[in-house]
Amino acid sequence: MAKLLTIQGGKPLTGEVTVRGAKNLVPKAMVAALLGNTPSVLRSIPEIKDVDVVSALLELHGVTVDWDSQAGSITMDPAGVRQAKSAEIDAHAGDSRIPILFCGPLMHAIGEAFIPDLGGCKIGDRPIDYHLEVLRNFGAVVDKRPGGISISAPKGLHGAKLELPYPSVGATEQVLLTAVKAEGITELKGAAVEPEIHDLIAVLQKMGAIITVQTDRTIRIEGVSTLRGYNHTALPDRNEAASWASAALATGGDIFVRHASQRDLTAFLNTYRKIGGEFDVTDEGIRFWHAGGELNPLVLETDVHPGFMTDWQQPLVVALTQATGVSIVHETVYENRFGFTDALVRMGASIQLHRECLGSIPCRFGQRNFLHSAVISGPVRLKGATFDIPDLRGGFSHLIAALAAEGTSKATGLEIINRGYEHFMDKLLALGADVELSDES
Ligand code: EPU
Repeated sequence: MAKLLTIQGGKPLTGEVTVRGAKNLVPKAMVAALLGNTPSVLRSIPEIKDVDVVSALLELHGVTVDWDSQAGSITMDPAGVRQAKSAEIDAHAGDSRIPILFCGPLMHAIGEAFIPDLGGCKIGDRPIDYHLEVLRNFGAVVDKRPGGISISAPKGLHGAKLELPYPSVGATEQVLLTAVKAEGITELKGAAVEPEIHDLIAVLQKMGAIITVQTDRTIRIEGVSTLRGYNHTALPDRNEAASWASAALATGGDIFVRHASQRDLTAFLNTYRKIGGEFDVTDEGIRFWHAGGELNPLVLETDVHPGFMTDWQQPLVVALTQATGVSIVHETVYENRFGFTDALVRMGASIQLHRECLGSIPCRFGQRNFLHSAVISGPVRLKGATFDIPDLRGGFSHLIAALAAEGTSKATGLEIINRGYEHFMDKLLALGADVELSDES
Protein backbone atom coordinates (compact mmCIF):
# COMPACT_ATOMS: atom_id res chain seq x y z
CA MET A 1 0.00 0.00 0.00
CA ALA A 2 1.25 3.52 -0.83
CA LYS A 3 2.68 5.46 2.08
CA LEU A 4 1.84 8.91 3.37
CA LEU A 5 4.51 10.94 5.15
CA THR A 6 3.30 13.46 7.70
CA ILE A 7 5.83 16.17 8.57
CA GLN A 8 5.58 18.65 11.44
CA GLY A 9 7.91 21.42 10.32
CA GLY A 10 9.82 24.17 12.06
CA LYS A 11 12.46 22.04 13.77
CA PRO A 12 16.15 22.44 12.80
CA LEU A 13 17.75 19.19 11.56
CA THR A 14 20.74 18.40 13.75
CA GLY A 15 22.97 15.36 14.07
CA GLU A 16 24.91 13.05 11.79
CA VAL A 17 24.23 11.14 8.57
CA THR A 18 26.53 8.83 6.62
CA VAL A 19 26.76 8.78 2.84
CA ARG A 20 27.97 5.68 1.02
CA GLY A 21 28.95 5.01 -2.59
CA ALA A 22 27.62 7.44 -5.20
CA LYS A 23 24.31 6.61 -6.86
CA ASN A 24 25.78 7.99 -10.09
CA LEU A 25 28.78 5.64 -9.98
CA VAL A 26 27.85 2.38 -8.26
CA PRO A 27 25.33 1.00 -10.82
CA LYS A 28 27.76 1.83 -13.66
CA ALA A 29 30.69 0.13 -11.96
CA MET A 30 28.37 -2.87 -11.57
CA VAL A 31 27.77 -2.89 -15.33
CA ALA A 32 31.55 -2.78 -15.86
CA ALA A 33 31.83 -6.15 -14.04
CA LEU A 34 30.40 -7.70 -17.26
CA LEU A 35 33.64 -6.78 -19.04
CA GLY A 36 35.92 -8.85 -16.78
CA ASN A 37 36.90 -12.50 -17.05
CA THR A 38 37.14 -12.91 -13.25
CA PRO A 39 34.84 -11.75 -10.40
CA SER A 40 34.66 -8.08 -9.36
CA VAL A 41 34.17 -6.75 -5.84
CA LEU A 42 32.55 -3.36 -5.24
CA ARG A 43 32.34 -1.83 -1.75
CA SER A 44 30.28 0.94 -0.12
CA ILE A 45 27.10 -0.04 -1.92
CA PRO A 46 24.05 2.08 -1.06
CA GLU A 47 20.67 0.37 -0.74
CA ILE A 48 18.89 2.21 -3.56
CA LYS A 49 16.67 1.23 -6.45
CA ASP A 50 19.21 1.60 -9.31
CA VAL A 51 21.46 -0.92 -7.55
CA ASP A 52 18.55 -3.39 -7.32
CA VAL A 53 17.65 -2.90 -10.99
CA VAL A 54 21.23 -3.42 -12.21
CA SER A 55 21.68 -6.37 -9.89
CA ALA A 56 18.52 -7.99 -11.32
CA LEU A 57 19.61 -7.32 -14.92
CA LEU A 58 23.07 -8.77 -14.27
CA GLU A 59 21.51 -11.91 -12.80
CA LEU A 60 19.15 -12.25 -15.78
CA HIS A 61 22.29 -12.28 -17.94
CA GLY A 62 23.88 -15.09 -15.95
CA VAL A 63 26.12 -13.01 -13.67
CA THR A 64 26.22 -14.27 -10.08
CA VAL A 65 25.69 -11.38 -7.68
CA ASP A 66 26.51 -12.00 -4.01
CA TRP A 67 25.70 -9.40 -1.39
CA ASP A 68 27.59 -9.03 1.85
CA SER A 69 25.23 -6.64 3.60
CA GLN A 70 27.39 -6.61 6.74
CA ALA A 71 30.38 -5.32 4.76
CA GLY A 72 28.21 -3.30 2.33
CA SER A 73 29.89 -4.97 -0.65
CA ILE A 74 28.91 -7.09 -3.63
CA THR A 75 30.81 -9.69 -5.62
CA MET A 76 29.83 -10.14 -9.25
CA ASP A 77 31.00 -13.19 -11.19
CA PRO A 78 30.43 -12.96 -14.95
CA ALA A 79 31.70 -16.52 -15.70
CA GLY A 80 28.23 -17.71 -16.75
CA VAL A 81 27.19 -14.62 -18.78
CA ARG A 82 24.50 -15.44 -21.33
CA GLN A 83 21.61 -13.92 -23.22
CA ALA A 84 18.48 -13.12 -21.26
CA LYS A 85 14.88 -13.49 -22.42
CA SER A 86 13.58 -10.15 -23.68
CA ALA A 87 10.31 -10.63 -21.75
CA GLU A 88 12.31 -10.89 -18.52
CA ILE A 89 14.37 -7.82 -19.40
CA ASP A 90 11.18 -6.01 -20.34
CA ALA A 91 9.92 -6.39 -16.79
CA HIS A 92 12.44 -3.66 -15.93
CA ALA A 93 11.15 -1.18 -18.54
CA GLY A 94 10.81 2.31 -17.08
CA ASP A 95 12.71 1.42 -13.90
CA SER A 96 15.97 3.28 -14.46
CA ARG A 97 18.26 4.95 -17.01
CA ILE A 98 21.23 2.68 -16.31
CA PRO A 99 20.23 -0.21 -18.67
CA ILE A 100 21.37 1.83 -21.70
CA LEU A 101 24.92 1.34 -20.41
CA PHE A 102 24.65 -2.44 -20.81
CA CYS A 103 25.01 -2.04 -24.63
CA GLY A 104 28.81 -2.14 -24.99
CA PRO A 105 29.60 -4.70 -22.25
CA LEU A 106 26.87 -7.09 -23.46
CA MET A 107 27.95 -6.80 -27.11
CA HIS A 108 31.52 -7.60 -26.00
CA ALA A 109 30.36 -10.51 -23.84
CA ILE A 110 27.62 -12.14 -25.96
CA GLY A 111 27.50 -10.23 -29.24
CA GLU A 112 24.14 -8.51 -28.72
CA ALA A 113 21.90 -6.75 -26.22
CA PHE A 114 18.23 -5.94 -25.69
CA ILE A 115 17.75 -2.75 -23.69
CA PRO A 116 14.31 -2.05 -22.14
CA ASP A 117 12.67 1.39 -22.37
CA LEU A 118 14.38 3.67 -19.87
CA GLY A 119 13.03 5.30 -16.72
CA GLY A 120 14.58 7.93 -14.45
CA CYS A 121 13.48 11.36 -13.27
CA LYS A 122 11.25 13.48 -15.51
CA ILE A 123 13.40 16.60 -15.59
CA GLY A 124 13.52 17.13 -19.35
CA ASP A 125 13.30 15.05 -22.51
CA ARG A 126 16.39 12.99 -21.61
CA PRO A 127 16.98 11.58 -25.11
CA ILE A 128 19.55 8.87 -25.88
CA ASP A 129 20.60 10.14 -29.32
CA TYR A 130 24.26 10.67 -28.26
CA HIS A 131 24.40 7.11 -26.92
CA LEU A 132 23.05 5.58 -30.12
CA GLU A 133 25.26 7.76 -32.32
CA VAL A 134 28.49 6.76 -30.54
CA LEU A 135 27.47 3.09 -30.54
CA ARG A 136 26.85 3.24 -34.31
CA ASN A 137 30.31 4.78 -34.72
CA PHE A 138 31.82 1.76 -32.95
CA GLY A 139 30.10 -0.44 -35.56
CA ALA A 140 26.93 -1.37 -33.68
CA VAL A 141 23.62 -1.88 -35.47
CA VAL A 142 20.65 -0.49 -33.56
CA ASP A 143 17.14 -1.79 -34.08
CA LYS A 144 14.35 0.09 -32.29
CA ARG A 145 11.59 -2.32 -31.22
CA PRO A 146 8.40 -1.95 -29.21
CA GLY A 147 9.47 -1.94 -25.55
CA GLY A 148 13.16 -1.26 -26.12
CA ILE A 149 16.12 -1.45 -28.48
CA SER A 150 17.99 -4.40 -29.83
CA ILE A 151 21.67 -3.83 -30.57
CA SER A 152 24.38 -6.01 -32.09
CA ALA A 153 27.81 -5.73 -33.71
CA PRO A 154 27.92 -8.21 -36.61
CA LYS A 155 31.35 -6.94 -37.71
CA GLY A 156 32.75 -6.41 -34.19
CA LEU A 157 33.29 -3.16 -32.30
CA HIS A 158 36.10 -0.88 -33.53
CA GLY A 159 37.70 2.20 -31.97
CA ALA A 160 36.41 5.50 -33.36
CA LYS A 161 37.02 9.25 -33.39
CA LEU A 162 34.05 10.75 -31.55
CA GLU A 163 32.87 14.15 -30.41
CA LEU A 164 29.89 14.83 -28.15
CA PRO A 165 27.73 17.90 -28.88
CA TYR A 166 27.42 18.38 -25.08
CA PRO A 167 29.53 16.80 -22.29
CA SER A 168 26.93 14.15 -21.41
CA VAL A 169 27.81 11.99 -18.41
CA GLY A 170 25.90 8.96 -19.68
CA ALA A 171 27.23 9.15 -23.25
CA THR A 172 30.82 9.48 -21.93
CA GLU A 173 30.25 6.36 -19.82
CA GLN A 174 28.81 4.60 -22.86
CA VAL A 175 32.00 5.36 -24.79
CA LEU A 176 34.25 4.20 -21.93
CA LEU A 177 32.37 0.94 -21.37
CA THR A 178 32.44 0.16 -25.10
CA ALA A 179 35.89 1.44 -26.13
CA VAL A 180 37.92 -0.41 -23.49
CA LYS A 181 37.48 -3.69 -25.38
CA ALA A 182 36.89 -2.33 -28.92
CA GLU A 183 39.65 -3.02 -31.40
CA GLY A 184 42.05 -0.08 -31.77
CA ILE A 185 42.07 3.45 -30.43
CA THR A 186 39.09 5.61 -29.51
CA GLU A 187 39.32 9.36 -29.10
CA LEU A 188 36.40 11.15 -27.46
CA LYS A 189 36.27 14.94 -27.59
CA GLY A 190 33.79 16.98 -25.54
CA ALA A 191 33.72 14.33 -22.79
CA ALA A 192 32.16 14.76 -19.35
CA VAL A 193 34.78 14.78 -16.57
CA GLU A 194 32.60 14.47 -13.45
CA PRO A 195 34.25 12.79 -10.42
CA GLU A 196 31.99 9.76 -11.04
CA ILE A 197 33.51 9.47 -14.55
CA HIS A 198 37.02 9.52 -13.06
CA ASP A 199 35.99 6.81 -10.60
CA LEU A 200 34.61 4.65 -13.43
CA ILE A 201 37.93 5.16 -15.25
CA ALA A 202 39.72 4.04 -12.07
CA VAL A 203 37.58 0.87 -12.05
CA LEU A 204 38.32 0.18 -15.72
CA GLN A 205 42.04 0.81 -15.25
CA LYS A 206 42.08 -1.74 -12.40
CA MET A 207 40.53 -4.18 -14.88
CA GLY A 208 43.40 -3.64 -17.33
CA ALA A 209 42.07 -0.81 -19.54
CA ILE A 210 44.32 1.91 -20.97
CA ILE A 211 42.62 5.32 -20.69
CA THR A 212 44.13 8.82 -20.83
CA VAL A 213 42.20 11.93 -19.80
CA GLN A 214 43.52 15.18 -21.29
CA THR A 215 42.84 18.65 -19.86
CA ASP A 216 40.69 19.69 -22.85
CA ARG A 217 37.82 17.16 -22.29
CA THR A 218 39.47 14.64 -24.61
CA ILE A 219 39.63 11.01 -23.49
CA ARG A 220 41.78 8.47 -25.38
CA ILE A 221 41.20 4.76 -24.92
CA GLU A 222 43.43 2.01 -26.32
CA GLY A 223 41.29 -1.08 -26.68
CA VAL A 224 42.54 -4.34 -25.13
CA SER A 225 41.27 -7.85 -25.83
CA THR A 226 40.73 -9.02 -22.24
CA LEU A 227 39.94 -7.39 -18.93
CA ARG A 228 39.92 -8.94 -15.45
CA GLY A 229 37.66 -8.30 -12.47
CA TYR A 230 38.25 -5.36 -10.12
CA ASN A 231 38.30 -4.62 -6.42
CA HIS A 232 37.06 -1.11 -5.68
CA THR A 233 35.50 1.16 -3.07
CA ALA A 234 33.03 3.55 -4.70
CA LEU A 235 33.56 7.28 -4.23
CA PRO A 236 31.11 8.83 -1.72
CA ASP A 237 27.85 10.33 -2.93
CA ARG A 238 28.60 14.05 -3.29
CA ASN A 239 25.03 14.80 -4.37
CA GLU A 240 23.53 13.28 -1.25
CA ALA A 241 26.12 15.17 0.83
CA ALA A 242 25.14 18.48 -0.84
CA SER A 243 21.45 17.70 -0.24
CA TRP A 244 21.96 17.29 3.51
CA ALA A 245 24.09 20.45 3.55
CA SER A 246 21.19 22.39 2.00
CA ALA A 247 18.80 20.78 4.48
CA ALA A 248 20.96 22.11 7.35
CA LEU A 249 20.82 25.61 5.88
CA ALA A 250 17.10 25.60 5.04
CA THR A 251 16.04 24.35 8.50
CA GLY A 252 18.58 26.41 10.49
CA GLY A 253 20.26 23.17 11.53
CA ASP A 254 23.67 21.55 11.92
CA ILE A 255 24.50 18.27 10.13
CA PHE A 256 27.74 16.30 10.05
CA VAL A 257 27.88 14.32 6.79
CA ARG A 258 30.22 11.40 7.37
CA HIS A 259 32.30 10.49 4.28
CA ALA A 260 31.47 13.75 2.43
CA SER A 261 34.55 14.55 0.38
CA GLN A 262 35.74 18.15 -0.05
CA ARG A 263 37.59 17.38 -3.30
CA ASP A 264 34.36 16.50 -5.12
CA LEU A 265 32.35 19.38 -3.64
CA THR A 266 34.58 22.41 -4.27
CA ALA A 267 32.03 24.34 -6.36
CA PHE A 268 29.26 23.55 -3.89
CA LEU A 269 31.31 24.64 -0.87
CA ASN A 270 32.19 27.98 -2.49
CA THR A 271 28.50 28.67 -3.08
CA TYR A 272 27.55 27.49 0.41
CA ARG A 273 30.06 29.93 1.90
CA LYS A 274 28.81 32.83 -0.25
CA ILE A 275 25.22 32.29 0.94
CA GLY A 276 26.42 32.37 4.52
CA GLY A 277 26.45 28.66 5.34
CA GLU A 278 29.28 27.41 7.56
CA PHE A 279 31.22 24.20 7.05
CA ASP A 280 34.15 22.45 8.62
CA VAL A 281 36.09 19.79 6.72
CA THR A 282 37.62 16.88 8.63
CA ASP A 283 39.17 13.57 7.57
CA GLU A 284 35.89 11.81 8.46
CA GLY A 285 33.49 14.12 6.63
CA ILE A 286 32.10 17.66 6.57
CA ARG A 287 29.97 19.46 9.15
CA PHE A 288 27.47 21.93 7.61
CA TRP A 289 25.50 24.45 9.64
CA HIS A 290 23.50 27.68 9.67
CA ALA A 291 25.44 30.17 11.76
CA GLY A 292 22.38 32.28 12.62
CA GLY A 293 21.68 35.73 11.18
CA GLU A 294 20.76 36.48 7.59
CA LEU A 295 21.61 34.39 4.52
CA ASN A 296 22.87 36.15 1.39
CA PRO A 297 21.17 35.95 -2.01
CA LEU A 298 23.28 35.11 -5.05
CA VAL A 299 23.39 34.58 -8.81
CA LEU A 300 24.06 30.98 -9.71
CA GLU A 301 24.41 28.94 -12.87
CA THR A 302 24.36 25.15 -12.99
CA ASP A 303 26.95 23.55 -15.26
CA VAL A 304 28.87 20.40 -16.00
CA HIS A 305 31.86 19.61 -13.77
CA PRO A 306 33.82 21.52 -12.52
CA GLY A 307 30.85 23.90 -12.37
CA PHE A 308 27.94 23.94 -9.92
CA MET A 309 26.22 20.63 -10.46
CA THR A 310 22.56 20.53 -11.55
CA ASP A 311 21.68 17.93 -8.87
CA TRP A 312 22.64 20.44 -6.16
CA GLN A 313 20.33 23.12 -7.53
CA GLN A 314 16.93 21.98 -6.26
CA PRO A 315 17.76 21.53 -2.55
CA LEU A 316 19.74 24.79 -2.56
CA VAL A 317 16.76 26.74 -3.98
CA VAL A 318 14.90 25.94 -0.74
CA ALA A 319 17.73 27.51 1.27
CA LEU A 320 17.63 30.55 -1.07
CA THR A 321 13.96 31.16 -0.13
CA GLN A 322 15.40 32.04 3.29
CA ALA A 323 18.09 34.45 1.98
CA THR A 324 17.52 38.21 2.31
CA GLY A 325 17.12 39.64 -1.19
CA VAL A 326 16.80 38.38 -4.75
CA SER A 327 18.64 35.31 -6.05
CA ILE A 328 18.86 34.14 -9.65
CA VAL A 329 19.40 30.50 -10.61
CA HIS A 330 20.02 29.64 -14.28
CA GLU A 331 19.69 25.90 -15.02
CA THR A 332 21.83 25.05 -18.07
CA VAL A 333 22.01 21.23 -17.93
CA TYR A 334 18.31 20.22 -18.06
CA GLU A 335 15.63 22.24 -19.80
CA ASN A 336 12.86 21.37 -17.35
CA ARG A 337 14.27 21.21 -13.83
CA PHE A 338 12.17 23.88 -12.13
CA GLY A 339 8.81 22.07 -12.08
CA PHE A 340 9.38 21.43 -8.38
CA THR A 341 9.07 25.15 -7.59
CA ASP A 342 5.24 25.03 -7.99
CA ALA A 343 4.93 23.23 -4.66
CA LEU A 344 7.42 25.63 -3.03
CA VAL A 345 5.27 28.58 -4.20
CA ARG A 346 2.22 26.89 -2.67
CA MET A 347 4.23 26.72 0.56
CA GLY A 348 4.74 30.48 0.45
CA ALA A 349 7.99 30.84 -1.54
CA SER A 350 8.35 33.75 -3.95
CA ILE A 351 9.80 32.20 -7.13
CA GLN A 352 9.25 33.39 -10.72
CA LEU A 353 10.36 31.29 -13.68
CA HIS A 354 11.63 32.80 -16.94
CA ARG A 355 12.37 31.54 -20.45
CA GLU A 356 15.39 33.85 -20.82
CA CYS A 357 18.92 32.89 -19.82
CA LEU A 358 19.28 35.07 -16.72
CA GLY A 359 22.83 33.99 -15.91
CA SER A 360 26.00 35.41 -17.38
CA ILE A 361 26.31 32.78 -20.16
CA PRO A 362 23.54 32.23 -22.73
CA CYS A 363 22.84 28.47 -22.75
CA ARG A 364 21.42 26.06 -25.35
CA PHE A 365 17.90 26.43 -23.84
CA GLY A 366 17.65 30.20 -24.46
CA GLN A 367 14.93 31.42 -26.90
CA ARG A 368 13.40 27.92 -26.85
CA ASN A 369 10.42 28.30 -24.56
CA PHE A 370 11.91 26.45 -21.60
CA LEU A 371 11.32 27.94 -18.14
CA HIS A 372 14.92 27.42 -17.09
CA SER A 373 15.77 30.55 -15.06
CA ALA A 374 14.39 31.21 -11.58
CA VAL A 375 14.19 34.44 -9.59
CA ILE A 376 13.80 33.76 -5.87
CA SER A 377 12.97 36.51 -3.36
CA GLY A 378 13.36 36.07 0.34
CA PRO A 379 13.22 35.60 3.16
CA VAL A 380 9.73 34.08 3.32
CA ARG A 381 7.92 32.10 5.99
CA LEU A 382 7.19 28.70 4.50
CA LYS A 383 3.99 26.96 5.57
CA GLY A 384 3.04 23.28 5.41
CA ALA A 385 1.34 21.84 2.30
CA THR A 386 0.24 18.59 0.68
CA PHE A 387 2.33 17.38 -2.25
CA ASP A 388 3.25 14.38 -4.36
CA ILE A 389 6.99 13.86 -4.85
CA PRO A 390 7.78 14.63 -8.53
CA ASP A 391 11.41 13.50 -8.94
CA LEU A 392 14.42 12.64 -6.82
CA ARG A 393 16.06 16.02 -6.14
CA GLY A 394 12.83 18.03 -6.48
CA GLY A 395 11.23 15.65 -3.99
CA PHE A 396 14.08 16.07 -1.52
CA SER A 397 13.60 19.85 -1.85
CA HIS A 398 9.89 19.58 -1.07
CA LEU A 399 10.67 17.53 2.01
CA ILE A 400 13.25 19.94 3.39
CA ALA A 401 10.91 22.86 2.64
CA ALA A 402 8.23 21.01 4.64
CA LEU A 403 10.73 20.44 7.46
CA ALA A 404 11.60 24.14 7.47
CA ALA A 405 7.93 25.24 7.23
CA GLU A 406 5.49 26.13 9.96
CA GLY A 407 2.72 23.57 10.39
CA THR A 408 1.94 20.18 8.96
CA SER A 409 2.77 18.82 5.49
CA LYS A 410 1.66 15.58 3.90
CA ALA A 411 3.73 13.91 1.16
CA THR A 412 3.07 10.94 -1.12
CA GLY A 413 5.38 9.29 -3.66
CA LEU A 414 8.15 8.67 -1.13
CA GLU A 415 9.44 5.65 -3.06
CA ILE A 416 11.04 8.09 -5.56
CA ILE A 417 13.27 9.37 -2.74
CA ASN A 418 14.53 5.83 -2.13
CA ARG A 419 16.02 5.91 -5.65
CA GLY A 420 18.85 8.12 -4.45
CA TYR A 421 18.73 8.55 -0.67
CA GLU A 422 19.24 5.28 1.16
CA HIS A 423 17.59 4.79 4.58
CA PHE A 424 15.99 8.18 4.13
CA MET A 425 13.44 7.86 6.93
CA ASP A 426 16.05 6.55 9.40
CA LYS A 427 18.29 9.49 8.58
CA LEU A 428 15.50 12.03 9.03
CA LEU A 429 14.58 10.53 12.40
CA ALA A 430 18.24 10.51 13.47
CA LEU A 431 18.37 14.25 12.66
CA GLY A 432 15.43 14.90 14.97
CA ALA A 433 12.77 15.43 12.29
CA ASP A 434 9.17 15.14 13.41
CA VAL A 435 7.98 12.74 10.68
CA GLU A 436 5.62 9.80 10.59
CA LEU A 437 4.86 7.23 7.89
CA SER A 438 1.39 5.76 7.58
CA ASP A 439 -0.63 3.85 4.99
CA GLU A 440 -2.36 6.15 2.53
CA SER A 441 -6.12 5.78 2.94
N1 EPU B 1 21.54 14.51 -23.55
C1 EPU B 1 21.09 14.46 -24.86
N2 EPU B 1 21.23 13.28 -25.54
C2 EPU B 1 21.80 12.18 -24.98
C3 EPU B 1 22.27 12.24 -23.64
C4 EPU B 1 22.12 13.43 -22.94
O1 EPU B 1 20.59 15.45 -25.38
O2 EPU B 1 21.90 11.13 -25.65
C5 EPU B 1 21.36 15.77 -22.78
C6 EPU B 1 20.36 15.58 -21.63
O3 EPU B 1 19.03 15.68 -22.07
C7 EPU B 1 20.76 16.67 -20.67
C8 EPU B 1 22.29 16.76 -20.87
O4 EPU B 1 22.56 16.12 -22.13
O5 EPU B 1 20.18 17.90 -21.05
C9 EPU B 1 23.11 16.09 -19.80
O6 EPU B 1 22.67 14.76 -19.62
P1 EPU B 1 23.67 13.61 -19.15
O7 EPU B 1 23.74 12.58 -20.21
O8 EPU B 1 24.92 14.24 -18.67
O9 EPU B 1 22.87 13.02 -17.92
P2 EPU B 1 22.69 11.50 -17.49
O10 EPU B 1 23.93 10.74 -17.73
O11 EPU B 1 21.40 10.98 -18.03
C10 EPU B 1 23.63 11.77 -15.07
C11 EPU B 1 23.07 11.60 -13.70
C12 EPU B 1 22.11 12.74 -13.38
C13 EPU B 1 22.86 14.06 -13.51
C14 EPU B 1 23.48 14.18 -14.91
C15 EPU B 1 24.31 15.42 -15.09
C16 EPU B 1 23.07 9.23 -13.45
C17 EPU B 1 22.31 7.97 -13.30
N3 EPU B 1 22.38 10.34 -13.60
O12 EPU B 1 22.50 11.69 -15.94
O13 EPU B 1 21.70 12.58 -12.05
O14 EPU B 1 21.98 15.13 -13.28
O15 EPU B 1 24.30 13.03 -15.18
O16 EPU B 1 25.40 15.42 -14.22
O17 EPU B 1 24.31 9.23 -13.40
C18 EPU B 1 20.22 12.70 -10.22
O18 EPU B 1 21.11 12.13 -9.57
O19 EPU B 1 19.16 13.18 -9.70
C19 EPU B 1 20.40 12.84 -11.66
C20 EPU B 1 19.42 13.20 -12.48
